[in-house]
Amino acid sequence: MRSANGQERHGKVVLVTGASSGIGQAIAATLAAQGRRVFGASRSRAPVAAPGVEMIALDVDDDASVERAIATVLARADRIDAVVNNAGWAIMGAVEDTAIAEAKAQMETNFFGVLRVCRAVLPAMRRQGGGAIVNISSLSGLFGAPFSGLYSASKFAVEGMSEALRFETRKLGIRVVLIEPGDHMSALAARRRIVAAAATNPAYRDAFARFKAAQEKDEAKAPPPERVAQLVAKVLSLSSPAPRYTVGMLGQRIVAPLKRFLPGRWFEWVVGTAMGV
Ligand SMILES: NC(=O)c1ccc[n+]([C@@H]2O[C@H](COP(=O)([O-])OP(=O)(O)OC[C@H]3O[C@@H](n4cnc5c(N)ncnc54)[C@H](OP(=O)(O)O)[C@@H]3O)[C@@H](O)[C@H]2O)c1
Repeated sequence: MRSANGQERHGKVVLVTGASSGIGQAIAATLAAQGRRVFGASRSRAPVAAPGVEMIALDVDDDASVERAIATVLARADRIDAVVNNAGWAIMGAVEDTAIAEAKAQMETNFFGVLRVCRAVLPAMRRQGGGAIVNISSLSGLFGAPFSGLYSASKFAVEGMSEALRFETRKLGIRVVLIEPGDHMSALAARRRIVAAAATNPAYRDAFARFKAAQEKDEAKAPPPERVAQLVAKVLSLSSPAPRYTVGMLGQRIVAPLKRFLPGRWFEWVVGTAMGV
């Protein structure tokens, strides 16, 4: 449905989580530049370098903070047409070396954070008769990336929940879409948490060091976050978007068709060799 100024109704008032940095900041700036009313949210409330983005406080790990943030958007704008669940961070280390507390912290933000925000906005979207939920997953949500097992697990969880939610809400006019980026320039790498036991357990030390060096090389040539932002803007303009979209360097995005079409052991050989494990 289109409003008087020709803008897609589902993109009029948008909340972007994790908008203080990287991909979320680029999404907020791009959507605001298109004339949408954009609320950017994060814990630090750093200003977004774009006019028209209203920054609000939000910690997606915290039930009360999520409720407050959604109430703030509804109080100021009276509706919420789209949410981009982007807030997240990454943990790195061998599965065996990951303490349960470290794993839970990763799931708390990357999965439960998305679930919290979805649960908080859905009543308003149902009342309005529609909306859009765009969940920022990762190519690591399509396969278990070595030494990123818990990050992958958090994104697999987002993928499964989003697929189910899409089925459940399609008759309510609510579109749920997954965006699966490869590496993009942001603060993710600098803020990445390395599991504590990586420093003490020699079992994976050499393989982890090789993997980390290869990962850092890939990240150094990553495209800017605006690429993801342009895709999100396009998705919000579609009345019937696909369930998922990959974005990023071709050499990374190829993992999606490889996983889909290659027999499992071939996939492992190709990807394992490419990733040095
Ligand atoms: N960059 C990549 O290569 C890449 C690839 C695939 C997927 N992704 C995904 O893209 C999303 C954005 O990451 P990015 O690369 O742009 O990283 P980033 O530059 O580090 O930005 C992360 C954002 O999330 C916010 N955030 C973190 N924890 C939060 C919490 N508990 N509550 C609210 N906000 C929180 C941060 O703000 P505060 O710290 O101020 O709260 C920040 O605005 C993540 O979900 C990430 O997994 C990134």
